[in-house]
Amino acid sequence: MSVDDRDMPAPSVEDPTGARQIDADPFAAARLQALTTQEAIQQMTGADMRQHALKAFSTLGIADSLDDDEFRTSDELAEICQAEPQMMARFLYAMHARGVLTTDEHGRYGLTSLGQALRSGGAMWAALGVITSPLWQQAGDNLAATICTGHPHALNGEETPYPLLAAHPGLAGMFDTFMSSRTTGLAATLAARSFAGFRTVADLGGGDGTLLAALLTAHEHLDSILIEQADVTARTEHRLIERGLAGRVEIIAGDIFNDPCPAADLIILSSILHNWDDPTNLRLLSNARQAMLSAGPHAKLWIVEVPLPVPGIHNHGIDLDLRMMSLFAGGQERTMPQYYDLLARAGLKIIDVSPLPSDHALMIAMVN
Ligand SMILES: C[S@@+](CC[C@H](N)C(=O)[O-])C[C@H]1O[C@@H](n2cnc3c(N)ncnc32)[C@H](O)[C@@H]1O
Repeated sequence: MSVDDRDMPAPSVEDPTGARQIDADPFAAARLQALTTQEAIQQMTGADMRQHALKAFSTLGIADSLDDDEFRTSDELAEICQAEPQMMARFLYAMHARGVLTTDEHGRYGLTSLGQALRSGGAMWAALGVITSPLWQQAGDNLAATICTGHPHALNGEETPYPLLAAHPGLAGMFDTFMSSRTTGLAATLAARSFAGFRTVADLGGGDGTLLAALLTAHEHLDSILIEQADVTARTEHRLIERGLAGRVEIIAGDIFNDPCPAADLIILSSILHNWDDPTNLRLLSNARQAMLSAGPHAKLWIVEVPLPVPGIHNHGIDLDLRMMSLFAGGQERTMPQYYDLLARAGLKIIDVSPLPSDHALMIAMVN
């Protein structure tokens, strides 16, 4: 999201079915129309150089060379990062213009909060590592082939990138951190809700436990279950021990699509449905429905996704949908009417939709 995007108001738009569209940006098309054709295309294609620059910033280790309140000259940074001084000076000048660096009264460079977020091991370092990994890049480069064949070209016949991630633990760890950083922003809003009617929460495909950790920390009466793929659970356990919450989470290595779902008052599917096609999701939702029936009529299902806006409007879901298309055989973002329909086919009904940060929405469902 550019600074311009952040500054724009993001009003809600009603679609003809009455379903609420979250945080749509009705100004995006107008903004592009205000540019010349050449400017508009150039702006879109320029995104690749911004990504290359962030990757270079991370690879050079510039963020790791500066403490939070520390400033260094361009030549000092060139020496530390073993870079050619003139090139480094131009590069730092560009990153300053992008808001990754700031300067002091002597023209020395320091890190902004954006720069700090790119330190090795940090959340945005991990996000960048995943997005610039050969697999993600290949998926994007082959989008046209994917659109022609109907199957993600980069997956070597797999249905999702998860088996490929499992074979590359370094990249898989970065993926968990990437997901965790995105989920952290949502978790605070979700944790602020009332959990008075719930005792056991089950997070299916709960990643490294970031969301559960926020909920358990805010609501001491809760216990929980997290189901993940076997190659992820060791990392989940490690993170939950770090957060002092291991005793309150039962971690199950399992398959959320084929194993029965344990009974829980609240079942959470956060960024799960958008990885899969409808038939696969219907298996998962039917499992969840059975578990809700066992728990009782108060049981709820929370779904966190980025609903697509009405046609012609741009939000985060639009780019995410293309990402899903390029990396998951059945992956797709859906409109609110599509979610209502999917849930209804699984014998569930959406009873509430609330906006969450970054164009996400919380859909609350119960057994129909
Ligand atoms: C997009 S991530 C979302 C992670 C987490 N829910 C969040 O919101 O941050 C999808 C998760 O589903 C997990 N997953 C994929 N297939 C699974 C399966 N068959 N059984 C259990 N988990 C699965 C992945 O390992 C991954 O952590």
